[in-house]
Amino acid sequence: MNVLVTGGAGFIGSHACVSLLEEGHNIIILDNYSNSSPEVIDHIKTITGRTFSHYNCDLLDYTQLDTIFGKHEIDAVIHFAGLKSVPESTTIPLTYYHNNLTGTLHLLQIMEKHKVRRLVFSSSATVYGTNNVVPYEESMPTSATNPYGWTKVMIEQMLRDYTSAVPDAAVTCLRYFNPIGAHKSGLIGDNPNGIPNNLMPYVCQAAIGILPSIKVYGTDFPTKDGTGVRDYLHVADLADGHVKALEHLEKAKGFFVYNLGTGQGTSVLELIDTFERVNNIKLKRDICGRRAGDIATSFANVNHAIEEIGWETKYTLEDMCRDSWKFIQTKNKNK
Ligand code: NAD
Ligand code: UFG
Repeated sequence: MNVLVTGGAGFIGSHACVSLLEEGHNIIILDNYSNSSPEVIDHIKTITGRTFSHYNCDLLDYTQLDTIFGKHEIDAVIHFAGLKSVPESTTIPLTYYHNNLTGTLHLLQIMEKHKVRRLVFSSSATVYGTNNVVPYEESMPTSATNPYGWTKVMIEQMLRDYTSAVPDAAVTCLRYFNPIGAHKSGLIGDNPNGIPNNLMPYVCQAAIGILPSIKVYGTDFPTKDGTGVRDYLHVADLADGHVKALEHLEKAKGFFVYNLGTGQGTSVLELIDTFERVNNIKLKRDICGRRAGDIATSFANVNHAIEEIGWETKYTLEDMCRDSWKFIQTKNKNK
């Protein structure tokens, strides 16, 4: 297939591009590099030995988007582009709604104009809100607690309504749990601007000495050791999930939702312990109070993805810790 990838230079998008190219698909990347760098394009080419078209394009630029769709025969779109920081979304909510909702609306309008009706969308476990019990299942009601999360709930609804109105459309929302890890080459990985919000990039920056210690947010949750439990999955597994979802859409029509996770919960302390053990590093821990808005436990029921698209994770927590560490070391060596 010829697949247009929005946000293809980002953390998850870049790994999905590698998987798509390795599986023999052709890609066209579109990214405005607001949270990534054009260097990633070269890294994808180096890893795969393939070339492809790529555009510095903002989804808010309807005219440029239309021109790109006019230039290429596109069979499907994978839509990663969006702003993703929960705390930032509470301070600039209108920017988040405009970028994520208007960007997606433009994309859908242009896709409809060019009769491209296959779409895979990056959704999130955040849509399970705070009122469901684990393991989360796709049929549970959705809600959110911050503007970022609401953009995912609203986009899912927009896509559901679009598929109801267009019988020919085939749309899949993938609800990611907690992607970590990096490509085994060490060339691409999670590269957030400024001080990271998420646990693994924070651990990596502490391990390499950019940050003095790791903050453990809360030790009084009702979990095995009192710290937050999450369903961490390797970004390479997540990338493969997109190829599987896309291939499923070659034969299916309608609206689909799949959780992508391992189905296993890991605590903050378990993750830090594993990182220290596999990488032979000792990290300074700073025990803090709970972070506002954090829930105790989140993990997926992954049966639907296994049964319907034939996807399941293969990498371990050890692999995730090893590959994340390799990426941050490579990045700092190349500075
Ligand atoms: P990322 O920030 O690394 O990648 C997103 C990419 O989209 C970036 O390269 C950015 O420059 C680009 N972008 C943003 N707005 C754009 C616009 N208007 N036009 C063109 N490009 C634009 O993030 P990621 O971690 O790779 O996440 C990808 C998607 O997955 C996002 O939609 C995110 O909300 C979702 N998601 C991520 C996680 C996670 O933990 N990383 C979890 C659940 C869902
Ligand atoms: N944590 C720490 N120290 C840190 C960072 C995080 O102890 O420096 C803890 C958190 O309290 C939580 C766990 O590590 O218990 C995971 O936190 P992350 O920020 O890595 O991940 P979250 O599950 O909170 O959030 C992520 C994305 C959201 C997305 C959500 C569900 O950041 O955008 O997963 O998919 F909505």
